[in-house]
Amino acid sequence: MRKPIIAGNWKLHKTGAEAEAFFEKLKKLVPEPKPRVFIAPPLTALSNSYRAAHDSHFVVGAQNVCHAESGAFTGEVSAVMLKEAGAQFAIIGHSERRHIFGESDELVQMKVVRCLQASIFPILCVGETESQRTANKEKEVVAKQLREALRGASKDDFNRIVIAYEPVWAIGTGKTATPEIAQEMHAHIRITLEEMFGFESAESCCILYGGSVKSSNIAELMRQADIDGALVGGAALDAAEFAKIIQYNEGK
Ligand code: PGA
Repeated sequence: MRKPIIAGNWKLHKTGAEAEAFFEKLKKLVPEPKPRVFIAPPLTALSNSYRAAHDSHFVVGAQNVCHAESGAFTGEVSAVMLKEAGAQFAIIGHSERRHIFGESDELVQMKVVRCLQASIFPILCVGETESQRTANKEKEVVAKQLREALRGASKDDFNRIVIAYEPVWAIGTGKTATPEIAQEMHAHIRITLEEMFGFESAESCCILYGGSVKSSNIAELMRQADIDGALVGGAALDAAEFAKIIQYNEGK
């Protein structure tokens, strides 16, 4: 049985003090969350968030990680360093990293391996652009991203690997994939994982949906058989709205 995950990605928002205030509110609003709740603050707010969340069920993590363990990589932070600062997971290959910062599948693959080596959960993001979907290439694109990014992974890593399907055309645009479109891709992702790692690994893997998730659409998304949670951007910035998303209380 897959335990749902609701993850928040704050992107370039919130100082350490703002993060602390957020956690104080969220802890009061949702003292006993049913799903697992992950939050990725900006790096400078990671330690504040870790301290603010330590007496709660909320888990903090990073929005990115370096592909290398150490060396001459100015501005980068390794998986081991993130773990020391309190991160239990890292978002890998987010479309903003791929498209704005030019991250390749090869780099994403190395980052997944670094997280596994450091025993933190990689949340591997995959998803097609609008033009790829218009050209009916979305399934091919997502399968390729999975195959390339998971080259260094093994069956046993699936107690930690989380996948997030985030269609690029739905991120920050207010356009959500319909539950049917999302479910179809999630099922395709699970089949691809099964081809690569076998039935058990595919069945145990949590696949999150991301792209304009909010309290008004979460319940319907969560009712889909292969949607095991959400990766939430904009709507994760407000504690009251995020609390409603965590308490979608429907389906699983
Ligand atoms: P959004 O972002 O919820 O603001 O669309 C999702 C994401 O980028 O993870």
